Amino acid sequence: MSGIRKFETVRVELGRRSYDIHIGADLLDRTGEFVAPLLSRPRLAVITDENVAALHLPRLEAALSGIEVSTLTLPAGEATKSWAGLERTVEWLIESRIGRDDLVLALGGGVIGDLAGFAAAILRRGVRFVQIPTSLLAQVDSSVGGKTGINSPLGKNLVGAFHQPVLVLADVGLLDSLSPRELRAGYAEVAKYGLLGDAEFFSWLESSGPDVIEGDPAARARAVRRSCEMKAEIVARDETEEGDRALLNLGHTFGHALEAATGYSERLLHGEAVAIGCVLAFETSAALGLCEADVPARVIAHFDRIGLKARLADIPGTLPDADGLLSLMAQDKKVRDGRMAFVLARGIGEAFLSREADLGVVRSVLARALASRP
Ligand code: GLY
Repeated sequence: MSGIRKFETVRVELGRRSYDIHIGADLLDRTGEFVAPLLSRPRLAVITDENVAALHLPRLEAALSGIEVSTLTLPAGEATKSWAGLERTVEWLIESRIGRDDLVLALGGGVIGDLAGFAAAILRRGVRFVQIPTSLLAQVDSSVGGKTGINSPLGKNLVGAFHQPVLVLADVGLLDSLSPRELRAGYAEVAKYGLLGDAEFFSWLESSGPDVIEGDPAARARAVRRSCEMKAEIVARDETEEGDRALLNLGHTFGHALEAATGYSERLLHGEAVAIGCVLAFETSAALGLCEADVPARVIAHFDRIGLKARLADIPGTLPDADGLLSLMAQDKKVRDGRMAFVLARGIGEAFLSREADLGVVRSVLARALASRP
């Protein structure tokens, strides 16, 4: 069948800043159709990286025929999400004469989306931007909700702005080009949505998660759609993270400390840190008597089935001791008034934000997890 193919739409309801997330296969080839109505003139600036450009840029350019496209292709990797990368991007947009009424299109994973979104936020005090996320992590998390920014030499994501995109095109076909490890790391964020607020979705993942990993397009579209629906609902309630949005950080307080302890390196990808962090959050919840004692084992069993890291023992090399990890956690930017914020849970799908967690219990959970390392 030629012509229109199916896709699904999730709406992020933010008043005048509301936008659609379209989810489906082959959406990249239809970019022109979706973007053209948003253009004030047939002109578009694309920001991407070298890896993504090699894989997907020719298809995007073919999909934008009739539109004058200027492309900035940046080095791939986290180092691009820096002051230097931002300066280069903003100066390039100015040189390319991208004006207030033009559109910036981010084609890439979380690094490109965050950087291009932030460049769009500050260029001429705000230019509209579109996200075409190419990684699973970007499709289910970073491209949705308007968090944009760069890293400071002192920490990740310390410089940035809330700037919502005007459209997100999540083409699940693009996930075929991810490495198995990157795909699984992104899956941790999908599982996170079930764990934090939708037990039925988590049960579905327990049976269909392997299909998501193996490339079943319908399973992938369902996983991305439900993740985006949940993120859209939470962002609509709490755009700037005064409350509920912090639930999206399930596993992240532990995870950020583990990423810092491993030097933000290939030893541990962000999603892998989130998976282990989710397990530690459930182990802490069980140790505090908040959830049943067998829940953490269910989370570990699921990540094992998917082939994701789930335990501290799965991290190669040395790690700090429990106090060392706790002090890395205390540096997390979600510390307020000396209290550490944890997302804990009363069960699968029942997460809540706590500033009351007994740090002695957290320390013993970490010590026990560290002791199980070979
Ligand atoms: N990645 C967490 C958030 O967007 O709030």
